[in-house]
Amino acid sequence: MKNLMFAGCDIVKLAEKYKTPLYIMSEDYIVERLREIKNDFLNRHEKTRAVYASKAFLTKEMARIVHREGIGMDVVSGGELYTAMKAEFPMEDIIFHGNNKTIDELELAIENNVGRIVVDHIEEMDLIEEIAKEKNKKVYILFRISPGLESDTHKYIQTGQVDSKFGIPLTEKTISSAMEKALNLEFTELLGFHFHIGSQLSDNENHIKAIDIMTKLMKKVKDEYGFITKELNTGGGYGIHYSEDEHRKPLSYYTDSIMIEIEKQCKSYDLERPLIIIEPGRWVVGEAGMTIYSIGAIKEIPGIRTYISIDGGMPDNPRPSLYEAKYEGVIINKIHEEPTEIVTIAGKCCESGDILIWDLKIPKVERGDFLGVLSTGAYNYSMSSNYNRIPRPAVVMITEGKDRLIVKRETYDDILRNDL
Ligand code: LLP
Repeated sequence: MKNLMFAGCDIVKLAEKYKTPLYIMSEDYIVERLREIKNDFLNRHEKTRAVYASKAFLTKEMARIVHREGIGMDVVSGGELYTAMKAEFPMEDIIFHGNNKTIDELELAIENNVGRIVVDHIEEMDLIEEIAKEKNKKVYILFRISPGLESDTHKYIQTGQVDSKFGIPLTEKTISSAMEKALNLEFTELLGFHFHIGSQLSDNENHIKAIDIMTKLMKKVKDEYGFITKELNTGGGYGIHYSEDEHRKPLSYYTDSIMIEIEKQCKSYDLERPLIIIEPGRWVVGEAGMTIYSIGAIKEIPGIRTYISIDGGMPDNPRPSLYEAKYEGVIINKIHEEPTEIVTIAGKCCESGDILIWDLKIPKVERGDFLGVLSTGAYNYSMSSNYNRIPRPAVVMITEGKDRLIVKRETYDDILRNDL
């Protein structure tokens, strides 16, 4: 076998069948992760819930898989919510986040009875209460709290630090105004709290610290307002393998430490342990995906660098240019050939920052060879754009060695569809 196999498929054959660039996802891998959530978290600890953070990768088919495996979903926009609705995802299993949910989005969520709305700032409660009253609906909310922790990850994907656009700041004043408001609402019921401290975290230290901060808050609101925290949502953020020094850990590495800490802290404060929610995104789908490109122009700057250009780049994967994210790549039709060259993989956009991988070691290549970039299942398709009016790639799902198209390749006419 001279070609790379992925999820039981010859990837070169898929590239020829569907053309490139092409996103490929392994359903078997996704299901394995979702079952790990069930077996190692939900079944091992009582009073727990898990939702998949759909911002990482969402299509109707993905929503169906998540629901079939019995996991809920976190959405952050009307578009994600609408996708879930169209996939007949049960609305009560949805948690709606966002630091600036619009009135239209809140109306859509409340009209359709989403399970929880995570309130990101105090005034948002007025909007929710007004809509709930108008529609005569009961809305269950959690407060997103910014615990004031700086996580060891790229600055742009830290979320729980003091100076963050997300969440209610943890100060005497903000907590008392939030609690006083919440406890006086008629159609809106506060059930507890939420935190999310950042993404692609390779250790559990800050999750543990955040639990300590949140249990202190639970104790405070019990003493001051008689409020019993029924739910605590601990966010996601679990890291995956991208390159040599970034590795995925088992779910239990994070969740066991969360559960041990919450039990310990609740005991010490004499609190009843609330229902614990987790919401991983990247960890579920990141390693389930790869992207296939065709190699085109090859330019050697003697003594300096060789640029190998591919037929995609920044529009299908903006992460290297946004976060300096590192990826591994392989020449999928030459996997047994000796890597002899160090090259730079350049995207095709009119943008110097459109470099997918710096200094990749590969065999000698020519126009028409295929490059596979690994671990592109999370925040690639979901963050893709039409920059330079480049159509988005198709998405193919592989299940037990069989491929099927789940998102069609965009055409130039798709790009023009809304032009008047
Ligand atoms: N829950 C909340 C409230 C979040 O804000 C996020 C991610 C998650 C869960 C899921 O985080 P995960 O388990 O996937 O780390 N575009 C960036 C990632 C942004 C994540 C923002 N929030 C990237 O490509 O790295």
